Amino acid sequence: MADPVTRLAYQTLQQGKSLVGLAHKEVSTKLMELLAPAGAVPKTVPVPPQTLAALQASHGRLLEVDWRESVEGLYPPSLLFDAPWLEWASRYPLVWLDMPSTWSRRSERRVDDLPAEINRDDYPAYYLQNFHHQTDGYLSDYSASLYDLQVEILFNGTADPMRRRVLKPLVQGLRAFADRPASQLRILDVATGTGRTLRQIRGALPEPRLIGLDLSPAYLRQANRWLSQLPNELPQLVQGNAEAMPFARGSMQAVSCVFLFHELPGEARQNVLNECFRVLESGGVLVLADSVQMADSPQFQAAMDNFRRVFHEPYYRDYIGDDIDARLQAAGFGAIRAESHLMTRVWTATKP
Ligand SMILES: C[S@@+](CC[C@H](N)C(=O)[O-])C[C@H]1O[C@@H](n2cnc3c(N)ncnc32)[C@H](O)[C@@H]1O
Repeated sequence: MADPVTRLAYQTLQQGKSLVGLAHKEVSTKLMELLAPAGAVPKTVPVPPQTLAALQASHGRLLEVDWRESVEGLYPPSLLFDAPWLEWASRYPLVWLDMPSTWSRRSERRVDDLPAEINRDDYPAYYLQNFHHQTDGYLSDYSASLYDLQVEILFNGTADPMRRRVLKPLVQGLRAFADRPASQLRILDVATGTGRTLRQIRGALPEPRLIGLDLSPAYLRQANRWLSQLPNELPQLVQGNAEAMPFARGSMQAVSCVFLFHELPGEARQNVLNECFRVLESGGVLVLADSVQMADSPQFQAAMDNFRRVFHEPYYRDYIGDDIDARLQAAGFGAIRAESHLMTRVWTATKP
């Protein structure tokens, strides 16, 4: 299937997603300014033309790597087109219908507007917020049903291409256990959310056992819906806090964690890394993906600034200045390396 027609189809799909994302944001921002002007404060900073050019070039490089790694056989080209298109299309009107309540939370600076029925004692305090001003935070089926689509729009269709950048280091890291049957290897995806990363991992690694951990029962229910359609062994989904994971020491050969760290206070980031280290077997690999940071991507400062101005992201400013390498070292990891793909930085580290 890796032929010029498939490549053209992939490029066209990505261009289409990009246009839809940009148009959606343009129109929704204009509407908010008109109908809920208080929600449009604080204003975004203008993005300089050179930043836009750098973003565009980086976007092109991301899609190139995404295509190349599929052609090289790391994952099937069909993964490039994988999405619940019909469901997303049917849910898209809900994204619009949800906007007025998001605007009102923004203008009233209401960030703990969560479902009354949740038991607050079950969650750490930092979690009990409306991240991105999202309705119900992470704590309802309604929120879980819109999340993937909202992320897709936010990243102009590049969320999965960025998530797939964890696949190569995972596959390479698991070579340390090449003497074992692949079906005996265990890969844990921390903060798995609705399971999009596990879906990508299953595409590249059909045999290992997959485990997803998240604090949100609603997001895990959504993950179960998506993942149970996949062939091969059903991924195991576990509700729990990544700061104190319900897994035995040394029980995993690989751990991934995507888009969690910018939503954690610094201390929790360190706790999660310590836990990743504990649950990994010696020789195991951790692949961590999250937003780029000021130190590696100063050219994207305006984009990072705007992200935290538009969305409720209380720990983002601290995160983009955090030294993740130092935290990985403090947890005990070695062989630390990192690379950036558009707005995502991917760290790979090994448990000695
Ligand atoms: C931005 S989402 C990322 C989800 C997913 N990895 C992805 O790529 O879409 C953050 C996720 O982290 C989960 N989360 C936040 N704090 C957590 C914690 N301390 N332990 C486990 N999960 C947590 C949330 O419930 C949410 O599903």
